[in-house]
Amino acid sequence: MSDDVSILRQECLDALAAASGHRQWDEIRVSVLGKSGRLTGLLKQLGRMDASERKLRGAQLNRLRDELTRAIEARGDELEAAALDARLIAECVDISVPVPTGRRGGIHPVSQAVEEITAIFGAMGFAIAEGPDIETDWHNFSALNTPEHHSARTDHDTFYLPAEADGRNRVLRTQTSGVQIRTMLGNEPPIRIIAPGRTYRADHDATHSPMFHQCEGLVVDRNITLGHLKGCLIEFLRVFFGKPALPVRFRASYFPFTEPSMEVDIGWSRKTGEIGGGEDWLEVLGAGMVHPRVLANCGLDPEEWQGFAFGMGIERLSMLKNGIPDLRSFYESDVRWLQHYGTDPLTPALLHEGF
Ligand code: DAH
Repeated sequence: MSDDVSILRQECLDALAAASGHRQWDEIRVSVLGKSGRLTGLLKQLGRMDASERKLRGAQLNRLRDELTRAIEARGDELEAAALDARLIAECVDISVPVPTGRRGGIHPVSQAVEEITAIFGAMGFAIAEGPDIETDWHNFSALNTPEHHSARTDHDTFYLPAEADGRNRVLRTQTSGVQIRTMLGNEPPIRIIAPGRTYRADHDATHSPMFHQCEGLVVDRNITLGHLKGCLIEFLRVFFGKPALPVRFRASYFPFTEPSMEVDIGWSRKTGEIGGGEDWLEVLGAGMVHPRVLANCGLDPEEWQGFAFGMGIERLSMLKNGIPDLRSFYESDVRWLQHYGTDPLTPALLHEGF
């Protein structure tokens, strides 16, 4: 190896060994292999050499380039691993250490919203119902009047599970609405329940997550009317958002399991984001009168029993109430985020205030 080549080699290897961070490492990489790097410069000179000299020198330089490229990559990996180790140590949380005063964990905004929703509907006489996350296709769709080839099935980006021996197809529930079916099959009316829980759809961006939470509501009794639905939901939204005069609008829509169906909007300002102010409307939940076919699927005579149902996205309500811009942050387990948006566990939310 000629002198200048071996000097370049040694200097590069020494500099790499001495580099203590990504920036230094990158400077070395650029100074050797970059467009105006030293090795690149030597390679460019090959063109001016005569054939025999070029052959010898070219082989040397190519070998050096391979060696240094490998050395630079290896050192880069090492520095990256060291930086990660340092971060893990710096951000390590020793859960056995007593909590410093003034610094506590917080209740996650999803749990907080579930508690608030539960308290508000609890005060209206609703009980909590539950259903499984792994749901039969029948409970999630068919019994809810969504036939086999209906577009609502594809709209939901369903996660299907492998068929089981009992012949029943199962899905990760795409909505909590199946709990309506389970509740009507397992209980005599009158029924008044909400069902908060996890739901799943194959969708992922700033406003969609493959796992999210919904809260279903169902009332079945004699002589239930749209007036009951409206009164109940207006009251809920005004208490939840803490705005006694919150404008609420009911807009005709379609769901297979309700007739009539509607989307429920609240007033807000697009400009300032303020809930309850301004001229604009924001959709917050779906609702409707339980479809007679759904009642009949659950063995209830629609001539005798009527009901209303509603479903809301819990993260969506929490994002609106707390000004949280990105849905994905709910699941990143970032302590700083939790400290910012979480609720102090020892300060009970004043749930019934203004109710
Ligand atoms: N399940 C619906 C969805 O996920 C939401 C919904 C709409 C639920 C209307 C209801 C209802 O109970 O009546 O989009």
